[in-house]
Amino acid sequence: MLAMTFSYSAEEEKRETQKFSFVRVVRSALRGDSMRLKDKITIITGAGSGIGRATAIRFAQEGAKVVVDDVNEAGGQKTVETIQAAGGTATFVRADVSNAADVERLFAVTCATYGNVNVLVNCAICSAQEVEQNCWEPNVNVGLLGTWLCMQAAIPQMKEAGGGSIVNISSVNALMGFANEHVYSGVKAGIIGMSRSLAGEVGKFGIRINCILPGTIVTEIWDHIVERDPGVFDRLVKLYPLGRLGRPEDIANAALFFASDESSFATGSVLVIDGGITAAHMGFQI
Ligand SMILES: NC(=O)c1ccc[n+]([C@@H]2O[C@H](COP(=O)([O-])OP(=O)(O)OC[C@H]3O[C@@H](n4cnc5c(N)ncnc54)[C@H](O)[C@@H]3O)[C@@H](O)[C@H]2O)c1
Repeated sequence: MLAMTFSYSAEEEKRETQKFSFVRVVRSALRGDSMRLKDKITIITGAGSGIGRATAIRFAQEGAKVVVDDVNEAGGQKTVETIQAAGGTATFVRADVSNAADVERLFAVTCATYGNVNVLVNCAICSAQEVEQNCWEPNVNVGLLGTWLCMQAAIPQMKEAGGGSIVNISSVNALMGFANEHVYSGVKAGIIGMSRSLAGEVGKFGIRINCILPGTIVTEIWDHIVERDPGVFDRLVKLYPLGRLGRPEDIANAALFFASDESSFATGSVLVIDGGITAAHMGFQI
């Protein structure tokens, strides 16, 4: 008799199931369970500006405990203040990623403050002037050596934590030529080769390493170029099938995918986020 009272038609049962899962989703959202990086301890290099800052803010919105690294103290502090004002968790460490002792300190401070690092995003790069002038040391030391030093420091902590995710910011320069930037292009291609090889070595520890290749993203790195050449963005946008240049948030969202468990089967991947510039050359017509 009782069983009769509680037996639903197929339609009613579907409605009840939907209602139940809706309530579960709302409850879990209220508890903060739906945050994609809840309590993930994250280091982001070069997070005092541009893509690194946007990534730090996006990750904090998803519940990460963010360590903001940069050599620019004012920029780094501004990122931290923005996160904290929104109720997120962040702290600034001034560390030069090309300096092994600084990197060691960055990871030691992170561990002492929050615990073993779960996520590392390598964003730091030298100045646009150094990129344009093909200055070997700043490009190689910050872009390539810095990425390697941070990965070397992260891996033991991630092993201890039972796994982790490393996201390396490369560039479309790794795939296509741009005048006067061949050293930077080599560094960005090197990041891909290094990441893919290392991904093969550390997969057995549950550590994933993926690369993102952004197209033109409007960040502070472009400021002095725009000052010198105010029409540069108008000319560049014509090369983009999507008809716009990138925003730092476009890359932050891709980094979030690689940092979160949603990409748990992805390692050694190379994700191009470039508004289509490498897929189609818009300047050429037959
Ligand atoms: N903006 C673009 O169009 C674009 C395109 C493709 C790839 N990228 C890549 O994205 C990443 C972020 O670039 P962005 O546009 O946000 O640049 P950005 O100049 O806005 O940010 C780079 C940050 O790195 C910091 N930095 C410099 N040297 C450092 C060091 N030794 N140690 C720690 N931090 C250091 C700088 O102070 C700066 O805050 C870089 O790897 C860049 O190559 C950018």
